[in-house]
Amino acid sequence: MDKLNWEFTGMEHDLESILLTGEQIQSRVRELANLIAEDYMADGGMDARGPVVVCILKGAVMFYADLIRFMPIPISIDFISISSYGSKTASSGEVSLKKDLDGKIEGRVVLIVEDIVDSGLTLSYLLRMLSARNPRSLKVAALLDKPSRRRVPFQADYIGFAIEDKFVVGYGLDFDQLYRNLPMIGVLKPECYEP
Ligand code: IMP
Repeated sequence: MDKLNWEFTGMEHDLESILLTGEQIQSRVRELANLIAEDYMADGGMDARGPVVVCILKGAVMFYADLIRFMPIPISIDFISISSYGSKTASSGEVSLKKDLDGKIEGRVVLIVEDIVDSGLTLSYLLRMLSARNPRSLKVAALLDKPSRRRVPFQADYIGFAIEDKFVVGYGLDFDQLYRNLPMIGVLKPECYEP
């Protein structure tokens, strides 16, 4: 297979360093998928339809697609889209719903899939909103966690990698809608986002 030539797009030049290669991400995502499936099977918490796995658009899209294809249990899928306001690299905590779930989650086992936990504000908002719909259980899987950035206490049930306080892009994560299709995760050069 041809090697993808990211040099051509110039996108890779905007990275100060590569934090996680595509291979490292794939291997951890497979581990998480198995762990999550085992937990749901072990605690008897699954009904015949299995969990509703919810993708938070758009950042979680790559993680979500890889995670669900390696979860060896029945699941249903749904999508939610929220926007958080603030500067281009930090959320203000003001969150609004752009697209709600298609299905009802009352009495269902629900797993929310997010790209990164930063301040914790987005997931706190979402958990409050979805808990009010009385799911049977509600858990969160996040690919990345920046614990040092928390503004509200929040702990995801499953974390791929804990990382330092650096602004990262790739594998779904963007800056100004760019870099989402990089297969790796890298630290964006500050000159790419500082005026
Ligand atoms: P929160 O601050 O925990 O509410 O995170 C909100 C959202 O900010 C995440 O879902 C990401 O979309 C975005 N975000 C936080 N840190 C980064 C980053 O390092 N790169 C790209 N997006 C980020």
